[in-house]
Parts: sequence; structure tokens; C-alpha cells
Amino acid sequence: MRTNNYNVAVLTVFVSGCIGLAAAQETDVADHMQHHNDAMIAIQRSIIAGSLDGVREPARWLQEHDKPAGLTAADEDFIDSVRAAAGAVLEADSLEAAAEAASQMGLACGNCHLASGVTVEFDEVDRPSDKETEKPHMQRHQWAADRMWEGLIGPSQTSWHRGSDLLFESPVKPDVLARHGGGDEAIGMSRRIHQLSANATVTSDPGERAEIFAEFIANCGSCHVELGARVGR
Ligand code: HEC
Ligand code: HEC
Repeated sequence: MRTNNYNVAVLTVFVSGCIGLAAAQETDVADHMQHHNDAMIAIQRSIIAGSLDGVREPARWLQEHDKPAGLTAADEDFIDSVRAAAGAVLEADSLEAAAEAASQMGLACGNCHLASGVTVEFDEVDRPSDKETEKPHMQRHQWAADRMWEGLIGPSQTSWHRGSDLLFESPVKPDVLARHGGGDEAIGMSRRIHQLSANATVTSDPGERAEIFAEFIANCGSCHVELGARVGR
């Protein structure tokens, strides 16, 4: 999984090769954005895996990488919000705080796209198998989280709904949890996730979506820590 493969060397090469946003050709901006996106995915995955350590490197990159030249004042403001949120991820001392800051960052990405009149298109990814055993189950959760994340960043209504609908349809089964030694607390987390997904299917407010997403991934991470689940490690 990406969390571990996160490659600082590649990012460094990218940063030094990066040229100005406004001055650059379209492909360079797209490239730059792709790296943002990879870093954001690495952060999301680490929080879900329950690893606070894993968020630091990509967050530091997002906070510190060269600001492209020739930006408009409005672009500068958007980038400053992304950086401030990245700084908050970096300094987070709990999964919850990291999740909140990461979601604010996703919101900031989405705000600049909206203001720039950009529609970010994400590749269609097939839904994982819906066999009711737990690995595919968790893979559906991950798939849902990825789509919702894209929903925030895009911002994309379609991605958001694809993710939240699937999550809503896939409650964790208490007997599966019991097999992993999950007690009432784990069952509570699982319930909370499905409540959140119900809220997620109805809200169209980006700020609310960011809040739901934050609580949602923090819950995934806490349950994995609680049950000692190895996720992407
Ligand atoms: C300063 C404004 C701004 C900010 C901030 C911003 N973006 Fe973008 N983003 C753009 C623009 C403009 C494009 C369109 C680039 C193009 O396709 O030429 C874009 C395109 C993208 C794309 C599509 C790239 C492709 O392959 O076509 C992705 C993915 C993306 N952004 C992710 C992010 C993420 C993640 C963040 C936050 C960490 C972010 N962006 C923050 C302006 C911004
Ligand atoms: C109630 C506890 C609980 C919650 C909540 C939970 N998980 Fe899991 N998750 C587990 C357990 C237990 C495993 C380990 C399964 C195993 O080891 O076979 C696991 C494993 C995983 C895996 C690895 C599966 C694989 O293919 O090896 C992923 C990915 C995952 N979870 C994603 C998520 C996401 C995303 C969420 C949030 C929507 C989430 N999980 C919420 C308990 C939970």
C-alpha cells in the first residue's frame, strides 16, 4: 500500500523540477497536482491504518514544497490554506486531530478547484467484490473512503455519493468483530461509521462533508489500533 511505499526521493526530484503554476504548461500543473494528490492519499491511508507517524512525511512535503511562481493573490490565499492545514496535520498529536486537519486540507484543495473553474476528473475504479467476508468488506470501506476523499478534493458530487452510498450499504457485522476480539467499543465505532455514512449521503455542504469525513477516517483508524488490525503494513 502507498503508506509505506511513499517515496521521498521521487518527491524531491519532482519539487526541484517543478516550474511556476501560472507560467507552466498545463501538463506541469497537472503533474504538480498529481503529486499533491499522492501526498493526500498517503495521509488518508495512514490515518485509516491508525498510524500517526505515517502522516508526517507527506504532510511536511505539502507544507514545505516550493510555491510556484507567478500566482494570483487568490491562488496564494488558497495555497496558504492548504499549507496551514498541512502544518496542522504535521503537528497533530492524535488521529482525530490529524483527520480533522487533513479534511480541512481536502476542503482547501476543493475550494481552489471551484474558484479556478476546474473539474478534477478521477479515474473510475471498480467496486471491490461484495462477498460478505471481512477482507472484501474492508476493501469496500477503503474504496468508499477513497471515493469520498475524491469527493472533497474534486469537489465531486458523484464521487462523494458513490463512496457514501457504498459505506452505508456495508455495515460491519458484530460477529466478524467478535472474532477479532472486538468488544462493545469496537461495535460502537462501527455503528458510528454507519451513522456518519447516513449523514454523508444527505449533506451537500462541503464544510459538513469535511467534518463527517474527518470523524469517519479517525474512527477507521481507532478501530484498527484498538483491534491491532494490520492495515497496509
Ligand atoms: C492554487 C489553486 C489550487 C490548489 C490550492 C490546488 N489545486 Fe489542484 N488543480 C488546480 C488547477 C488549476 C488544476 C487544473 C490543472 C490542469 O489540469 O491543467 C488542478 C488539478 C488537479 C488535479 C487533476 C490533475 C490531472 O491529472 O489532471 C488533481 C488530482 C488535483 N488538482 C489535486 C489537488 C490536491 C490534492 C490539492 C490540495 C493538496 C490541490 N489540488 C490544490 C488548482 C489548485
Ligand atoms: C469496528 C472495527 C473496524 C472499523 C470501524 C473499521 N475496520 Fe478496517 N479492519 C478491521 C479489522 C479487524 C481488520 C483486520 C482484518 C484482517 O486482519 O483480516 C481490518 C482491516 C482493514 C483493511 C485491510 C484489509 C485487507 O485487505 O487486508 C482495510 C483496507 C480497512 N480495514 C479499511 C477500513 C476503513 C477504510 C474503515 C473506515 C470506513 C475501516 N476499515 C473501519 C476493523 C475495523
